[in-house]
Amino acid sequence: MNKLKNILLIITGGIAAYKSLELIRRLKDQNINVTCILTKSGSEFITPLSVSSLSGNHVYSDLFNLTDENKMGHIELSRAADLILIAPATTNIISKMAYGSCDDLASTVLMATNKPVYIVPAMNVRMWHNPATQRNIQTLVEDGVKFIGPDKGDMACGEYGLGRMSETQEIIDTILEHETSLLKQPLKMFSALVTAGPTRELIDPVRYISNKSSGKQGYAIAESLHHMGARTTLITGPTNIPLPIGPTIIKVNTAEEMLNATEALLPVDIAICAAAVSDYKANHGINEKIKKNGENITIDLTENPDILKRIGKRNSSRPSLVIGFAAETSDLLKNANYKLTAKGCDWILANDVSDGKIFGDDNNKIEFITKHSSHSWEKMSKEKVAEKLSKNIINYFTS
Ligand code: C5P
Repeated sequence: MNKLKNILLIITGGIAAYKSLELIRRLKDQNINVTCILTKSGSEFITPLSVSSLSGNHVYSDLFNLTDENKMGHIELSRAADLILIAPATTNIISKMAYGSCDDLASTVLMATNKPVYIVPAMNVRMWHNPATQRNIQTLVEDGVKFIGPDKGDMACGEYGLGRMSETQEIIDTILEHETSLLKQPLKMFSALVTAGPTRELIDPVRYISNKSSGKQGYAIAESLHHMGARTTLITGPTNIPLPIGPTIIKVNTAEEMLNATEALLPVDIAICAAAVSDYKANHGINEKIKKNGENITIDLTENPDILKRIGKRNSSRPSLVIGFAAETSDLLKNANYKLTAKGCDWILANDVSDGKIFGDDNNKIEFITKHSSHSWEKMSKEKVAEKLSKNIINYFTS
């Protein structure tokens, strides 16, 4: 049984457009509801009437068509489907997607969607091999768009090579397989970064300021997100525990290095700041070893950048979900709620560290705080906290 219920099929203008009629029928055989956008050039090859007769649904074409917008606005069209399939996809739509243009309904819907997008290219072999096309494809692959085909063979124009639209069965098998793997790995289409562990701020070449963070909670979260399929990067300060297997690891020492590594990873879908970042660093040169002279000394400290706040308050490339931690010794809910707003977070996992036990402990007791609610999680292992958090993330993106 597949969970794929609704597909938005975008049919662009190529001779292979006739194959999309068969594709609609076969998708419907799988009990999948198919809504179609037929581009202007697509309608040079097949008629809206044949598409609507086979799909059993209204066919959308124009961005500024009042009747269409009344039936289903372009934003709704981009979100209502479980998956968007572009078949056949011309060089033109591929290039528009790579550049982010929106000059018609199809390209606007593609810009507005938050759903998986599959491209089934169909074009002349020279157009396929053109460096511009290949550059655009590379960009789209990096953006997470998937390609089915093209196949090699005789072309309608009489040439031979890569560029034929994939066979209907192959397209259907690929998207059904996608659905199966999504069920197993629900965050497969998402990227995540996790900061973890303490940071170390040198006060001279051999001494530093740090804290008791073990890194356990952040590592467990990175591991759990990886298991759920997210492309996960763990940015970790120095710890004494084994690194999780699966996530990409970036090791840092200072808050400044952690900030740089974090910003370099953007854009990502999910950012979880579990690191216990040193709030202060030395406000003096660190090349000379501090000598004792029998007197008290004062170390001048300056504030470190707040990584979570920098991410949460970004105007561009802000992750869709920004999650922070708040370790508090008093007024847990009040302080955590304040941090949620002050740092621009979507969620805060707050814990009471007044007994000093959470750092290094295998268990954690979390108050899960969102902009509108707070829930008390019972005390559980840090792995279980990670799993529960992952489940909330999955719900956030899929419900
Ligand atoms: O303000 P406080 O340190 O309690 O905030 C905790 C949260 O902020 C954690 O999510 C921590 O990872 C993050 N943080 C940060 N950069 C800092 C200080 C805290 O990302 N310099």
